[in-house]
Amino acid sequence: MAKLVISGPNKLEGEVLISGAKNSALAIIVAAAMAPEESVLINVPRNLDVFFMTKILEELGVKVWFDGDGLHVDGSTLSSHQVPYNLARRMRASFYVAGLLLARLGVAEVPLPGGCALGSRPVDYHIKGFQNLGAQISIEHGYMKAQAASLSGCKNYINRSSVGTTVNLMLAASTAEGTTILENPAKEPEVVDLAICLNSMGARIRGAGTDVIRIDGVKRLRGTEHTIIPDRIEAGTYALAAAITQGRVLLRNVVTDHLRAPLLKLEEAGAIISEGPNELEIAVPQRMQAVDLETAAYPGFPTDLQQPFMAMLTLAEGTSVIRETIFDRFRFVDELRRMGADLKVERDTAIVRGVSGLTGAPVEATDLRAGAALVLAGMAAEGTTEVGGVEMIDRGYERLEEKLRALGAKISREGDEKDPEELARELDYLCP
Ligand code: EPZ
Repeated sequence: MAKLVISGPNKLEGEVLISGAKNSALAIIVAAAMAPEESVLINVPRNLDVFFMTKILEELGVKVWFDGDGLHVDGSTLSSHQVPYNLARRMRASFYVAGLLLARLGVAEVPLPGGCALGSRPVDYHIKGFQNLGAQISIEHGYMKAQAASLSGCKNYINRSSVGTTVNLMLAASTAEGTTILENPAKEPEVVDLAICLNSMGARIRGAGTDVIRIDGVKRLRGTEHTIIPDRIEAGTYALAAAITQGRVLLRNVVTDHLRAPLLKLEEAGAIISEGPNELEIAVPQRMQAVDLETAAYPGFPTDLQQPFMAMLTLAEGTSVIRETIFDRFRFVDELRRMGADLKVERDTAIVRGVSGLTGAPVEATDLRAGAALVLAGMAAEGTTEVGGVEMIDRGYERLEEKLRALGAKISREGDEKDPEELARELDYLCP
């Protein structure tokens, strides 16, 4: 298995181009298969999760191929309603194809997502929504089996903000008969990007990004060309890389409004942020100050940046309190402790006492964002850090070590290089 070898400490300085948003691309690749025509998706990040999703759609008969800048998706040959377990088990977002299959074929057999590095992640809201749309659901042998001669618009209250549920129900409802009202949907920018893409395909979706989404079902969707929004979590990760190394980095191709909560927290901790039309510069001339943070659904502080932010706070001056309200994301704390961090976890709260320095150590990525956090810590630590489980990081960060090296990091990838297909055969259950 490959690992990232980092020697520190190193200030990061320079500029980095942010890729397309993984969590937008995963939903929109599935949405493109809703049309029995070809679509072209621009700015799709080439990471492992995208690779897995294209493989799953190919297994269902959809034609998917990269050509230059664009990912082409042609749903005209969608034929199978059975999602293969060996692929679906690797990625929770594979559950999105349930909405696609119910809408296009009226039947779906999708593996239930298993246990995960982020704790329990049920899909009960998805199932309730499909039932409200008229689907009969049974849970058998680890699969959700759903069928519906036709889907009918409904009113659906989602118990708590859920990106996956909102995505799945938007897909299923876009060609249902009648109007569907989603109350308390997720407001993440990726949900808005999905609605914009579906509407460009002929769907009639209003209110994405607000507390109520109205979907007037249409007969069928057509092909489109859509550009994926920049990845706010990747952008936040690089901003935190600048912060933890007390460097100065210009992020290009960002939507700063998508990063409001993390940017405010970074300023509170002492970073100097200057914003341009679609770029932002973060400068950190001296040691950061401790801050408290609590994760929440958008527009709150994003759970996906909690772990990289914690890594930065291990070196801040003072004591920080972090409350994680979405997932169980503290499993990587022991890895940070191996580097000298002073952390205490009590249920959903972590107490981070800033230390004057970290030391490099061999550590293991427990999940995608924990892996990124450990890379950040390694760039600030004294000595050499080896981050194992780099295929976790490859799930959500395109060309990570290349982009960091361009910013002055001393980082290289060692161990057996595997192409994604080979890697996919080796990976254990990965779900974020
Ligand atoms: C999406 O996961 C993202 N993944 C996650 O990013 C992100 O952390 C999360 O949204 C933030 O909410 C993708 O977009 C592919 P949820 P998702 O449904 O949809 C509970 C990354 O690192 N819930 O919004 O799985 C759930 O347990 C990944 O890029 C139910 O109880 O998350 C959680 O506590 C990690 N029942 C909360 O809702 C359900 O049926 C929010 O989960 C569904 C969700």
